[in-house]
Amino acid sequence: MSAAIIDGKAAAERLRGRVAALVPDFATKAGRQPGLTVVLVGEDPASAVYVRAKGKATEAAGMKSDTIRLPAGTGQDELLDLVRALNADASVDGILVQLPLPAQINENAVIATIDPNKDVDGFHPVNAGRLATGLYGFVPCTPLGCLMLLKEQLGDLAGREAVVIGRSNIVGKPMAQLLLGESCTVTIAHSKTRDLPAVVRRADIVVAAVGRPEMVKADWIKPGAAVIDVGINRIDAGEGKTRLVGDVAFDEVAQVAGAITPVPGGVGPMTIAVLLRNTLVAAHRNAGVPLDKGTI
Ligand code: GUN
Repeated sequence: MSAAIIDGKAAAERLRGRVAALVPDFATKAGRQPGLTVVLVGEDPASAVYVRAKGKATEAAGMKSDTIRLPAGTGQDELLDLVRALNADASVDGILVQLPLPAQINENAVIATIDPNKDVDGFHPVNAGRLATGLYGFVPCTPLGCLMLLKEQLGDLAGREAVVIGRSNIVGKPMAQLLLGESCTVTIAHSKTRDLPAVVRRADIVVAAVGRPEMVKADWIKPGAAVIDVGINRIDAGEGKTRLVGDVAFDEVAQVAGAITPVPGGVGPMTIAVLLRNTLVAAHRNAGVPLDKGTI
């Protein structure tokens, strides 16, 4: 194996430590803790696991954590009323409505109702627009975590060829915007891209966010490239067992890449750490307490 393994778990712990260290100063100046409210509709088991993890991490960082659980049959108007009430609640700095939502609820309508200044997911069209135009706003947690890992590993990214595989609003598009903001030459590849392996072979930086287990192979990778694997796919491991794999065929790609994130233990832990960071930033902004962003 030649690639350096990018330790996302360790990077996430460091970020969580930096966030937690800034909470007491905020609490002194604002007279309250930063607060994150997570809304979970229904009983999707994976979502329930994520939501519990978010609540625990928020409390561990010294912040106020609230989780509101609603039944799967909740109507859209009821959820929108709840979001409006959270928008108006000054003790709530960040609002996160866990996705996916049940079929009777329009996700875009919910996202658009969240106050953009409490949108710690960075999913609101105003925040997407701020990112696209270089204005200061909230950036979705997973791509921002990927960028932090890349900058820690590579330093200045300017001039590098980056290929993002996947064009979702949650990862692919904001990831491309962030890399463009770092002066990379950015390509967004997707399911209709012709000769995907040839496109990926140009890249100094590959970000795979497609949700297809072990799709990216060693012969797609330019020797020495940095490979960030956003995929979390549960596959059959035989004998009734399952295991988690990414979108990258880790064992073979690690022979060619210069650096690579593992699954698990790569991008995943960064997502929650960045959520805490975004909540701390939201709290400072909402309370009018200055924050030197160089510190986190
Ligand atoms: N579901 C899976 N990941 C996420 C996330 O980052 N934010 C929200 N709101 N829902 C999710």
